[in-house]
Amino acid sequence: MAYKTIQVKTEGRVGVITFSRPEALNALCDELTTELATVLTAFEKDGGIGCVVLTGSKKAFAAGADIKELQARDFVSLYMQDPFAETWEAVARFRKPIIAAVSGYALGGGCEIAMMCDFIIASQTAKFGQPEINLGVMPGAGGTQRLPRAVGKAKAMDMCLTGRMMDAEEAERSGLVSRVVPAEDLLDVAMEAAEAIAVKSLPVAMMTKESVNRAYEIGLTEGVRFERRVFQSQFALEDQSEGMSAFAEKRAAHFKHR
Ligand code: HXC
Repeated sequence: MAYKTIQVKTEGRVGVITFSRPEALNALCDELTTELATVLTAFEKDGGIGCVVLTGSKKAFAAGADIKELQARDFVSLYMQDPFAETWEAVARFRKPIIAAVSGYALGGGCEIAMMCDFIIASQTAKFGQPEINLGVMPGAGGTQRLPRAVGKAKAMDMCLTGRMMDAEEAERSGLVSRVVPAEDLLDVAMEAAEAIAVKSLPVAMMTKESVNRAYEIGLTEGVRFERRVFQSQFALEDQSEGMSAFAEKRAAHFKHR
């Protein structure tokens, strides 16, 4: 299928989605988020996909929601046709592992979409920010919730209230990104990570993602209880016996459920 605002390809078991609106620094217009949600739905159903990489251009991962589109919206239209609920949340709802590979600007909704991914690998040129306050609004796709969980209250307040940007070095120091790499290596490093994930047992990777995400949502005692139940249930999988046998036999594991 041909898309207008994104490019999609698969390499082995990895799906790669590239935002492609260079004229607007990959601003996230309705068409783009609709196409993104469509591809994610297809990747989720596709047994051949074990991990997804979401990326943009060298200059911009995404410079936010499309301000020119947002300008025309009013409260009732946003409430009745909520773009966030309809399409943006597809990234947060995606059940397979998904990595954001960020170069250049990840601002507003761009930063929010990156934070919906399981982890962010940043190039040295990456710049993160929630500048919505400069437009007379606040973050509207999870930024006021996910940013403090990632970087703590002080930095989240600083960024959301002043609208300043955070460079890659500060983002790594603050826990927003998992790694910083030279710009020219970004996609290779993200693909290497995705390929490493995609050869694991997919149900186990999905359960691991689900369990880590619980840490965001519930208290420690309930979270640990949830983790233990899921861990125990994995002993019903052939992949558990294959993984442990492979270790004991000093060979690579070949997981059946991929
Ligand atoms: C629409 C955008 C855009 C955006 C850039 N462009 N960001 N169009 N929405 N978010 C367009 C510009 O209008 C311009 O088009 C072209 O992209 C290049 O941008 P420049 O500003 O000329 O580039 P530069 O000088 O390099 O500055 C880069 C920048 C700046 C610092 C990233 O573009 C910027 O501040 N953009 C807005 C960032 C922002 O406020 N994001 C938050 C959006 S609100 P023309 O046609 O003029 O050449 C949001 C809410 C989420 O995200 C809520 C979810 C439901």
